Amino acid sequence: MDNFKFHAPTQVVFGKNVETQAGELCKRYGATKVLVHFGGQSAKKSGLLDRVCTSLQEAGLEYVLLGGVVPNPQLGKILEGIDLCRKEKVDFILAVGGGSVIDSAKGIGYGLANDGDLWDYYAKKKTVTAMAPVGAVLTIAAAGSEMSNTTVVTNENGWLKRGLSSDYGYCKFALMNPELTYTLPAYQTASGCTDIMVHTLERYFTAPATHQLAIIDGIAENLLRSVMRNVAIALKSPQDYDARAEIMWCGTLSHNDITGDRSFGDWACHQLEHELSGMFGVAHGAGLAAVWGSWARYVYKENPSRFAQLAVNVFHIPYNYQNVEATALEGIAAMEAFYQSIGIPITIGELIGKELTEEEIATLAYKCSFMGTRTIGQFKKLTQEDMANIYRMAK
Ligand code: NZQ
Ligand code: ZN
Repeated sequence: MDNFKFHAPTQVVFGKNVETQAGELCKRYGATKVLVHFGGQSAKKSGLLDRVCTSLQEAGLEYVLLGGVVPNPQLGKILEGIDLCRKEKVDFILAVGGGSVIDSAKGIGYGLANDGDLWDYYAKKKTVTAMAPVGAVLTIAAAGSEMSNTTVVTNENGWLKRGLSSDYGYCKFALMNPELTYTLPAYQTASGCTDIMVHTLERYFTAPATHQLAIIDGIAENLLRSVMRNVAIALKSPQDYDARAEIMWCGTLSHNDITGDRSFGDWACHQLEHELSGMFGVAHGAGLAAVWGSWARYVYKENPSRFAQLAVNVFHIPYNYQNVEATALEGIAAMEAFYQSIGIPITIGELIGKELTEEEIATLAYKCSFMGTRTIGQFKKLTQEDMANIYRMAK
């Protein structure tokens, strides 16, 4: 077992009506003027935005609004936000939305606190030294950005999607009311649940030499079962509070490192997916499912017993002691069958409505390998050629 670190500095307030505490919490973390950052229509339509603004007014805080964050958030909106915050002397950014809005808010926070071209930090040419304070009112259980140290942004120039993680990248607080997720379309609920599961799977498939603690495996396997059980309920009964609450808290725990230190994780599927959503604008969770099975079949021979453990402990598949690889493969198939059962595609063709061309495969692999300069994955290190092979298997 390697040494690990655990750092989870975000204050979470969870439950019904917690969004009405937004003003009080912004103030507690030093706000005098707040940027209320949001996405398309959902927060306006549901009345959430009005409730949050009322809470800010009641706390005696000034605020300005900036909406229009698109799924797979873009650099242009972040730069607009930075300009607005400077002009309006904003000192706190409140994200009202999902991973895209929170990540955009974090991007603005980094832009306010670090000099020069913001993209240089996402492109890993420079290192951030701070982030202006960000808080979140979460409206979808998925990305886990409310408690992760990451922001993922697409640069419209070249459609490159890149993550930026640092010890500064945590929200000060996250307000999490499961009722806010009742209005999610079924596909977003299912895609979000897939993302939650893959955050845990990425951590589960560490480098073979990096042994996990049994307690961490237990939390991870339980979390996977809990999401599977509750997404089925939420899809049938979108207003089932308990199911929505289980999913929402699983989403946060899946990406706050309680299911494993992210730095040990594999993350190959995330890297492969980021190029897909960068290029085709697909929902991130669905994109993960479209590559997960192909990735798993490509790498499982590195450590078949790890995949067999998933099969047995999550899907109750009997352990075949004569043929561990067979158990591993049954587990992979069971995971794919689960994704399909909630309406999530398991190939890129199904995801984008057409097969990838060889040219697109080459472009995706080129971008994913950072123009041939890096490998991805820890369970098995993947070269640009491996990446192309996986995209081809998944096409
Ligand atoms: O824009 P609106 O109208 O709000 O609609 C959104 C959007 O269309 C809608 N939505 C959100 N809450 C809703 C709702 N619709 C009805 N009712 C509600 N309560 O859902 C759509 C998707 O929203 P988005 O924020 O894009 O979803 P998600 O949370 O899945 O975020 C995805 C982004 O997060 C990144 C992904 O790459 C992607 O860009 N990730 C961020 C991570 C992080 N920061 O740690 C980790 C993840 O692995 C992921 O990469
Ligand atoms: Zn993810």
